Amino acid sequence: MSKIRATITGVGAYVPDYILDNHELGKMVDTTDEWIMTRVGIKERHILKEKGEGASFMGERAVKQLLEKTNTSPDEIDLVLCSTVTPDMLFPSTASVIADKVGIKKAFHFDINAGCSGFIYTLITASKFVESGQYKKVIVVSAEKMSAVVDYTDRTTCPLFGDAATAVMLEPTSENIGLMDYIARSDGMGRHYLHMKAGGSCYPSSHETIDKKMHYVYQEGQPVFKHAVSKMADVSVEIMERNNLTANDIAWLVPHQANNRIIEATAKRMELAPEKVMVNIQMYGNTTSATIPLCLWEWENQLEKGDNLILSAFGAGFTWGSIFLKWGYNSDK
Ligand code: UT7
Repeated sequence: MSKIRATITGVGAYVPDYILDNHELGKMVDTTDEWIMTRVGIKERHILKEKGEGASFMGERAVKQLLEKTNTSPDEIDLVLCSTVTPDMLFPSTASVIADKVGIKKAFHFDINAGCSGFIYTLITASKFVESGQYKKVIVVSAEKMSAVVDYTDRTTCPLFGDAATAVMLEPTSENIGLMDYIARSDGMGRHYLHMKAGGSCYPSSHETIDKKMHYVYQEGQPVFKHAVSKMADVSVEIMERNNLTANDIAWLVPHQANNRIIEATAKRMELAPEKVMVNIQMYGNTTSATIPLCLWEWENQLEKGDNLILSAFGAGFTWGSIFLKWGYNSDK
């Protein structure tokens, strides 16, 4: 019997209308378009402005687009997994909120928090349910309202992040396509360099946590950069080597979009030409776990069945990982 693999059969996304560009940021904090473009590569990011709406507002829209594109009814969905570091609430899960808003009633749902590696971790997890043969249609939604946790008076973090949500459908196949191999790693010592201190059980919300700005993203850029630049390249090269892939065999690198310099260093270690690297950081910034599927969504029409893709990410935790994926369809959607 041939092995059951999990293959992506569709991609949806939602990006808020409001665009915060570098020029406007320059009026809010002491920064310039030149600094942000040279050091990071971001021109603009999208921000969810709707009052009282969180990650699920965008996730709902991404899932609805996915269902429409794949001609799927909510009743056919067996499982919804949501990667997010900005859930609507600490509990219940944002996956449950999205599923309810979309009308998915015959599934179970949960969230995965793996920082910017959230899509990699969640796709791996979802693939195991599909490979078991028990789950036929699984949705991985990545929904991030980073603007809710960014301090717009801190120039070292506020230019970096944006809001977005994406959704991919995973289904079983016996063809030689889909999720072929993966590497996932974590190192909890990274928490010192990238975290949000308050709002959890250590420091519940209080006047003091608000006064001390403990509900915002805290990042020490340089140590995070140093680890990201080596770890993301390490796992990308490792997954190529153990699958006997050379740069010629790879159609696309789909990297997490945190910093253009990290993406370039990863592609260089893989000996990949820049034309084979998906980069849209200039338009969306770092949308945490949504960056990789946001690339897949944008490049969907250029992808062909059987294309070899390497997906790679690094993020809070630290978490990092890579996936070797053979693309599952030619897009006429
Ligand atoms: O996605 C999750 C994982 N996160 C990452 O992968 C992010 C990794 N880190 C990075 O991408 C980079 O470290 C940053 C983009 C966050 C920062 O870039 P950097 O080249 O490491 O800058 P830096 O922190 O070393 O700062 C250099 C200088 C400093 O000034 P001095 O001390 O040299 O006078 C900063 O104060 O740039 C200054 N600076 C800015 N200047 C203008 C920091 N932010 C800004 C800014 N505009 N927005």
